[in-house]
Amino acid sequence: MSNTVIVGAQWGDEGKGKIIDFLAKKVDAVVRFQGGSNAGHTVVVNNEKFIFHLIPSGILHPGKKCIIGNGVVVDPKILIAEIEDLKSRGIKVDDLYLSSQAHIVMPYHMEIERLEEEQRGEGKIGTTKRGIGPAYTDKIARRGIRVADLLERETLTQKLKINLEFLKNFYGLNLSLKNALEEYLQYGRKLKRYITDTSMLVYELMREGKNVLFEGAQGTLLDVDHGTYPYVTSSNPTAGGVCTGVGIGPTRIDKVLGVAKAYVTRVGEGPFPTEIKGEIGEILKNRGKEYGSTTGRPRRCGWFDGVVLRYAVRINGLDGLILTKLDVLDTLDKIKICVAYKYKHQVIREFPSQPRIWQECEPIYEEMEGWKEDTSKVTRSKDLPWKAKKYLKKIEEEGGVPIHLLSVGPQRGDLLVLD
Ligand code: GDP
Ligand code: IMO
Ligand code: MG
Repeated sequence: MSNTVIVGAQWGDEGKGKIIDFLAKKVDAVVRFQGGSNAGHTVVVNNEKFIFHLIPSGILHPGKKCIIGNGVVVDPKILIAEIEDLKSRGIKVDDLYLSSQAHIVMPYHMEIERLEEEQRGEGKIGTTKRGIGPAYTDKIARRGIRVADLLERETLTQKLKINLEFLKNFYGLNLSLKNALEEYLQYGRKLKRYITDTSMLVYELMREGKNVLFEGAQGTLLDVDHGTYPYVTSSNPTAGGVCTGVGIGPTRIDKVLGVAKAYVTRVGEGPFPTEIKGEIGEILKNRGKEYGSTTGRPRRCGWFDGVVLRYAVRINGLDGLILTKLDVLDTLDKIKICVAYKYKHQVIREFPSQPRIWQECEPIYEEMEGWKEDTSKVTRSKDLPWKAKKYLKKIEEEGGVPIHLLSVGPQRGDLLVLD
């Protein structure tokens, strides 16, 4: 396998964790490049469920390097808890590497986020409350605390002073320097063995001809530049985020694959043209167990959106697609697929850049016959019901890219390689 990027092609929770776990066995390293513990990536092995927030989803494979790149924002408390949890379940966490340049999510980021969401009222984003937005804000405003700072008392003291002063002046928050300093120095001591220059590490792996997998969190439509702004996350989950989030050049990437669900879900607020409000939405939510892996919130469900897929193909330069959760559609009589949007008598086939259109457009659907057979036990693509094959073909036509892998259940083995 070559150096491959895996990104979410919709609004997140496409099943990236499961796919990364599958592909990890063929590579030497798995690298997270953006986001933070807002991510919840699920891997199910022999009915045992693992949900990864910060640790790359390749960690269940011994000997694979799992790398957290500089573009990630790290809550050290959550990272340490994740490491401890894995160890207590018998998983070795020896091959974990944490960028010294990644930014730290502090408790005050959560507090700022809470205040901001409160102030937005009806217009709230519906964030995961993990402090992600404020942590990236501090990074861009050049007052962020980085992983390496946790190892230097003097630097951390200095940076905390600046930040606490800022919090007092702008938010009226009075926080104790002493408590925060000792707590975060302690986290630094716990994480020290993992901290390194991860850009150099990835560069050297590639120079030795090793294969690297880049694990996207969130999804294309949650990208701060290309998503449904402002209802987005605060990083670049699209393929472009890999270069800055890891510290490698674009010429080092060989392949980009998108993960999409056979329908669409979204958690949090914001436009969602193909959202189904009613019975079928409930069926998808229940059969797909569509509750957030990080927050437990119910996910909004909708029909597959070909316009969104074409957009994800364009923005990420997708070479191919991995489709998940086909089995969730098994019981439906009819299945709709959105091929375009209608906006004021206009037919729009490409994802529009104007927020007004996302809010007010009407999806144009093509209706297909449901296959009404259990696909979850199918192990060879040729044994799929022909109506399911037709649905997959339609998705490929809409996106203009082939589907390489098909997932038909949450377990590690519930995966078909397509011709
Ligand atoms: P991620 O954030 O993209 O890694 O996705 P999540 O883990 O948040 O959500 C995907 C959910 O769907 C998880 O509960 C997975 O166990 C589950 N899942 C993944 N693939 C399939 C599939 O093909 N069929 C079914 N029924 N569940 C799946
Ligand atoms: P994975 O990696 C689905 C959504 C939140 C909210 C918006 C902003 O598991 O696919 P944030 O906390 O990032 O500031 O919230 O983004 N969101 C996700 N939705 N999957 C995720 O991650 C998400 N991470 C953030 O619900 O709408
Ligand atoms: Mg998730």
